[in-house]
Amino acid sequence: MRRLYPRDGETSAADLVGQLDLGSRAPDDRPYVAVNMVSTLDGRAATDGDTRGLGGPDDRELFHLLRTAADAILVGAGTVRIERYAEAVKTDDLRARRERHGLDPEQPTVIVSARLVLPSDLPLLQAPGAPVIIATAADHELEGVEADVTYERTGDDLKLLLARLRADHGIRSLICEGGPTLVSYMLAAGLIDEFFLSLAPKFAGGGDEPTISTGPVLPEPVDADLVWLCEADDALFTRWRIKH
Ligand SMILES: NC(=O)c1ccc[n+]([C@@H]2O[C@H](COP(=O)([O-])OP(=O)(O)OC[C@H]3O[C@@H](n4cnc5c(N)ncnc54)[C@H](OP(=O)(O)O)[C@@H]3O)[C@@H](O)[C@H]2O)c1
Repeated sequence: MRRLYPRDGETSAADLVGQLDLGSRAPDDRPYVAVNMVSTLDGRAATDGDTRGLGGPDDRELFHLLRTAADAILVGAGTVRIERYAEAVKTDDLRARRERHGLDPEQPTVIVSARLVLPSDLPLLQAPGAPVIIATAADHELEGVEADVTYERTGDDLKLLLARLRADHGIRSLICEGGPTLVSYMLAAGLIDEFFLSLAPKFAGGGDEPTISTGPVLPEPVDADLVWLCEADDALFTRWRIKH
C-alpha cells in the first residue's frame, strides 16, 4: 500500500490502524465514532444487493484491522441481515492485537433495529456468549439465540443510544459499518467524527443500489477534512475528519 497524502511513502493497513487510538478522542458524553464503508467509482454502496463484489484483499484487511481499533462495532439491521453478520473478532491474532491496544478481546456488536426483526439463525446470534447490544423501539426479545444479548430501548434516538453506550457500557470508540440508512441518520444527528471510505476501482452503472448515505435529507451539506489518502491495486483508501 502506498500513502499519497499527506506524505508520499510505503505503508500498510496495519501501520495505518496501529496509530489510531480512537478512544482517546472521545467526547465526555458519547463514544468517538468512525464510519468505515466502500463505494464504487460511481458512488454505489453495493452491487447485486451486497458488498461482496466491492472490496479487494486490501480493503478486507483494512476492514478487519479497523475493527481491532474500536471498543465496539455499530451497524444497522439491514446490513446485519444482508451481510449475514458473524462474531466480530474472528481470529486469535486479531484478539491479541486488540489486547495490545488496551481493548477487550471480545468486541460487542451494537445493532440498530427499530422493529427488532433479525433472523435468529444469524451466525452472530448463534455464537455462544458473543456480546451483542440491540438498540430498538420494539418491546419484545429475540428467541432461540446463543449470543449474550442486551437490549437498549432507545427507539430512534441515536444520541441517547450513544450516551448509554458510553455511560452504561464503557464504550469510548465505535466503528460504524453502515449501512446507508443508519449512516444518513448518524450524519443528520451530528454523531459521526470520521469517515474511512474505500473507493473500489469499478463502476456499477444504473440500477437502484444505494449510495453510502440514503435516508433523511441533511439540513445542509456536512464538510470534512482529508486526513490521508492511500492506494493499493488501483483502489483508493481515504480517511476524512468531519467538521462539527
Ligand atoms: N458499501 C458499504 O460499505 C456498505 C456497508 C453496509 C451496508 N451496505 C449495503 O447497504 C445495503 C443495506 O442498506 P440499509 O440502508 O438497509 O442498511 P442499514 O442502515 O444497515 O439498515 C437499515 C435498517 O437499520 C435500522 N435502522 C437504521 N437506522 C435506524 C435508526 N436511526 N433508528 C432505528 N433503526 C434504524 C432499521 O432496522 P429495522 O428494519 O430492523 O427496523 C432499518 O430498516 C445492503 O445492500 C448492504 O450490502 C454497504
